Amino acid sequence: MLLLLGVLASAARVVINWDVGYVQVNRDGSSGSRRAIGVNGSLQIPPVFATKGGTLVLNVHNSLDVSTSIHAHGIFQNGTNFMDSPAMTVPSLYSTLMLDAPLYSNEAVYGPQTHAIVLKHLEYIELVIKNPSILLHPMHPHDHAFQIIEYDSIVNQSEPVLRYSTKCNAPMQRDTFVVPVNHYVKLRFRADNPGVWLLHCHMDVHFGMGMALTLIEAPDVLRRRPKVPETMLELCRAQGIRTEGNGAGNAGFDLAGLPTPPTIKP
Ligand SMILES: *[C@@H]1O[C@H](CO)[C@@H](O)[C@H](O)[C@H]1NC(C)=O
Ligand SMILES: *[C@@H]1O[C@H](CO)[C@@H](O)[C@H](O)[C@H]1NC(C)=O
Ligand SMILES: *[C@@H]1O[C@H](CO)[C@@H](O)[C@H](O)[C@H]1NC(C)=O
Repeated sequence: MLLLLGVLASAARVVINWDVGYVQVNRDGSSGSRRAIGVNGSLQIPPVFATKGGTLVLNVHNSLDVSTSIHAHGIFQNGTNFMDSPAMTVPSLYSTLMLDAPLYSNEAVYGPQTHAIVLKHLEYIELVIKNPSILLHPMHPHDHAFQIIEYDSIVNQSEPVLRYSTKCNAPMQRDTFVVPVNHYVKLRFRADNPGVWLLHCHMDVHFGMGMALTLIEAPDVLRRRPKVPETMLELCRAQGIRTEGNGAGNAGFDLAGLPTPPTIKP
């Protein structure tokens, strides 16, 4: 679940109570609704407003019959790797917007830690995620709901347990999907949402170790759209985050000075 923060210029201490439970939703447009996880009875989680320098206390009650995890995007989380993004000097979105053509379409300029993949506008993408590790991984894309079209153990790809053909009208859509131990999942989506989006493991400890990739989706279309608001650039300046150049804040393919990647812990 994603926590979005707005800024309000009053109380320094904000206490919020969330009740995480099941809700019925219909996101696929197919007949009938299905069970999803929401906050206080809604899939759309309530906005949270806090003051710069203030204290936010978020009490979360889990009404589900299973454990769940909640993490915040864009907030400094002590003990983790630079907020919740790959360790870059320049956030990839700014490199996409500010670099000259055709550099922004070259995955190498974003730096190896982003695992950037450049997608052409309106292409259909099939992505296979294999998990040969000893832990399951809940994978979470930003700004797409992927269709799950295949799923099976890694050793049996010829006859997957789940396989949808292009003729099937409604493969399930998910914005988080668990890839079990020794299994793979094949996903399909259309690159119809120009932007710079993360796809990452939703276990924060894995994310912090770098288990994420960056989709640079339709950068040519993205660059023709409205520019980054000045307030966002101000926020970056206030935090000393650079907004020009490649992933290392340099020209061309020079990645000198990139931060060191996070340490992989056992
Ligand atoms: C969510 O519900 C709890 C009670 O279950 C309530 O105390 C709380 O104020 C609600 N939070 C929001 C943000 O509406
Ligand atoms: C982060 O945590 C460490 C260890 O608890 C502490 O020394 C440090 O001051 C914290 N940093 C911030 C910015 O809160
Ligand atoms: C592989 O697929 C075949 C055919 O569907 C099935 O009979 C077999 O049990 C599967 N093997 C494994 C290891 O899942």
